[in-house]
Amino acid sequence: MKKISIIGTGYVGLVTGVSLAALGNSVVCVGRQESKAKDINHGKSPYYEPGLDSLIKDMVKKKRLTATTDFDMAVANSDITILAVGTPTINNKIDLTAIKEATRQIANVLKNKKIYHVVAVKSTVVPGATENIVKPLLPSGVGLCMNPEFLREGNAVEDALHPDRIVIGQLNEKSGRVFSEIYKKNTCPKIFTSLKTAELIKYTSNALFAALISFSNEIARISQKTGVDVVNVWDAVHLDNRLAPVVNGKRIRPGFISYLYSGPGFGGSCFPKDTKAFRAYAQSIGENAQVIDSVIKINDSQPLQTIALLQKELKSLKGKKIAVLGFSFKPDTDDIRESPALTIISELIRLKAHVIAHDPVAKLPDGTIFKQVTVAPSVSKALEKADGVIVVTSWQDYKKLTPDDFKSKMKQAIVVDARRIYDKNTFVKAGIRYSGIGYENEN
Ligand code: UGA
Repeated sequence: MKKISIIGTGYVGLVTGVSLAALGNSVVCVGRQESKAKDINHGKSPYYEPGLDSLIKDMVKKKRLTATTDFDMAVANSDITILAVGTPTINNKIDLTAIKEATRQIANVLKNKKIYHVVAVKSTVVPGATENIVKPLLPSGVGLCMNPEFLREGNAVEDALHPDRIVIGQLNEKSGRVFSEIYKKNTCPKIFTSLKTAELIKYTSNALFAALISFSNEIARISQKTGVDVVNVWDAVHLDNRLAPVVNGKRIRPGFISYLYSGPGFGGSCFPKDTKAFRAYAQSIGENAQVIDSVIKINDSQPLQTIALLQKELKSLKGKKIAVLGFSFKPDTDDIRESPALTIISELIRLKAHVIAHDPVAKLPDGTIFKQVTVAPSVSKALEKADGVIVVTSWQDYKKLTPDDFKSKMKQAIVVDARRIYDKNTFVKAGIRYSGIGYENEN
């Protein structure tokens, strides 16, 4: 059992902290906001994430998890400090201000500490940052690791408790050996690498999945213009064993693992920011990063594909009542960062449509554009007398909707299915004017 302080009570810091407590460690999460610390200490999650509330409650009760705003005390009383602060992109480049500030404060505490201490960077940072920026700020003799996270929002607790692999970039053998004890109970492969290899693994992983998504969206555009339904294309392509392996005689669900689902583009706090930071990093070392650049460009314009489908049906959107179902960037999260829904709503407002939107959990951001949106308390209220609907997020509640749910409420039953969650034939047969990413209604 290790005593761990985690700097940052954001999404990654908190989920990491709770799962490390569940693995038997004693964890203190350090944040700036008293109210957040209070919530956590009362067993309450400040974020919506399946399973997080109950695990926090359990760990707080077992006295393995606490939260505080007392940075120095938390670091002084732990053996390992994990940096999980934000690394946003500013002007498409990574901003390491928070990492530097936190490291300086850790260094200030550790300079008087006699017992061996390891600092580990969990935040996503460009290759070389741990060695060239974090290390020089720390007192000599402090252990240093880079331990990327592979959590998916909406599935983060499960991903944290049962990772596919754990990557530990280590400054030296002792740093890695001591740090890896926090994962003693995890039986998955543990990969020990150099610090910059670990950093590159993280970016490569996110860039690969982002590339698969943009590729699937490029194929969706080509399919649409060819008069082919992209779902039929993927249904066949996905059955290739190289994409959906057969394990114990059972094929792993296609698409789910491959990230080859066409949709309104990737969003969230990771893929958009990391692909941009990765491109800037590659360019800074003289590499063009052409694939990553195209991935970003396709993604930037992808949400607008849904508007084009709507315009094909309605021509001008001016004064039309358009329902938007879902603001979060994916289901099972209240996170709206870089959500394609925000781009879609902004464009609808620009085109002077009257937007009425719904999400089961997420809230729209402030700002003049979003003030013009009517937020509906239920799906049926959102659909009432609508001229068209764009279904942006694949929430379970939306997947359950039948053609009749749309037809009985809407003025014109025009459905744009950005996630392809409905059975096209059933909808068309029921008299819905149905189109979606990768399929254009030909009538
Ligand atoms: C992503 C990675 O999947 C995690 O491994 C990584 O740890 C995390 O970023 C991070 O860097 O912190 P996350 O952003 O939570 O996780 O969500 P994903 O489930 O990967 O989805 C990202 C976006 O891609 C969503 O907008 C989703 O709708 C979209 N997507 C995903 C598609 O459009 N098509 C697909 O086939 C799959």
